[in-house]
Amino acid sequence: MTPDRERLVALDKAHVWHPFTQMEGWLAGDPLVIADAEGCWLIDADGRRFLDGVSSLWVSVHGHRVPEIDRAITNQLGRVAHTTLLGLANPPSTELAARLVGLGPPSMGPGLTKVFYSEAGACAVEIALKMAFGYCQHTGKTEKRSFLSLDNAYHGDTLGAVSVGGIDLFHAAYRPLLFAGHRAPSPYCYRCPLGKEYPSCSTACLHPVEEVLQEHHEELCAVIVEPLMQAAGGMIAAPPGYLRQLHALCEEYGVLLILDEVATGVGRTGTFFACEQEGVCPDILVAGKGLTGGYLPLAVTMTTEAIFDAFLGRPEEARTFFHGHTYTGNPLACAAALANLDLMERTQTLAGVRERSELRTWARSGAAGSWWVSSWSPTGAPGSRSTPRSAWGGRWPTGHATTAC
Ligand SMILES: Cc1ncc(COP(=O)(O)O)c(C=O)c1O
Repeated sequence: MTPDRERLVALDKAHVWHPFTQMEGWLAGDPLVIADAEGCWLIDADGRRFLDGVSSLWVSVHGHRVPEIDRAITNQLGRVAHTTLLGLANPPSTELAARLVGLGPPSMGPGLTKVFYSEAGACAVEIALKMAFGYCQHTGKTEKRSFLSLDNAYHGDTLGAVSVGGIDLFHAAYRPLLFAGHRAPSPYCYRCPLGKEYPSCSTACLHPVEEVLQEHHEELCAVIVEPLMQAAGGMIAAPPGYLRQLHALCEEYGVLLILDEVATGVGRTGTFFACEQEGVCPDILVAGKGLTGGYLPLAVTMTTEAIFDAFLGRPEEARTFFHGHTYTGNPLACAAALANLDLMERTQTLAGVRERSELRTWARSGAAGSWWVSSWSPTGAPGSRSTPRSAWGGRWPTGHATTAC
């Protein structure tokens, strides 16, 4: 141990409480201290290099220390680092909102035209839940107060997000604090709870969802799902057609659809937003993680004119969306996001994802012998797990381009 590293480790163990980390093990161990990075490599305090296989938690789109993003942040620093978005505008947040609206999923109507900023995926999910609830309240559907979510869902760690979460290990302990809702099984082809096989199953996993909608649509305000892939729940891929049919059911029963694209969005499933692959435009879409290319915390909740309009009124009507964070729409983060989007466009990042996805499909086909498919994580893809090719058993439905493996 170099003296500097020794000092840092001692200070860390004395004062830092690490997330999702059993601190007893941490305190007994000899942790890595990442001091630098270069491209896809992390460099620790002793100068050793490690491949950033989790893309720093699925955020790093182009690797670390990207000159274009560095420059964008430095330029913005030369103007202003932070001003509040509460009652003021700033150029990067305005430009970015317009850009994201342009990248939103195609829609029969105007689509997702409004962008609400926050700093983390969980916050953006909270905002989505509150927007959906507020919309129902403001439009006279006051009985609509509950949400339908899926088993194995992960939407973040704040209490609203945990209320619609479905991973008992993370969420069960907090149940007394959570709001009640409805839950349906995940579309889980690899371990189908119905014992069926795709495609002969005809997406039977939607039946329990439809049953809840049928029975409870009058009290249901929204359905929230991670489109195409439940990421943190174990990279559980939905079969093709599932999202499209779910969307149709939501429309049929008059229930809003919230898509949490924190893990799947910003190109990580081969299209900018995963829902594009099923031709679905939700009522509310949440994105975060790779938005700034892995540089700064930024998340968005995008929604429709109809939902936005429901909050319009005179101040005394109290229809205002009373939600915001101190750093909402931070100009540095928005400048980084704009540079990230420019770079994705210039380097054709999405085409690269699709190429790698084809390579993965080839690997899965058996042609690559015992190759471990999870070694690809080129765009900060959900893909921290190592899953042997044989584990997929050839039963994984194909049809979606995705780097998540
Ligand atoms: C689908 C999904 N939603 C929300 C979150 C929470 O995002 P954050 O960690 O930025 O709060 C995550 C994080 O992994 C996620 O995968």
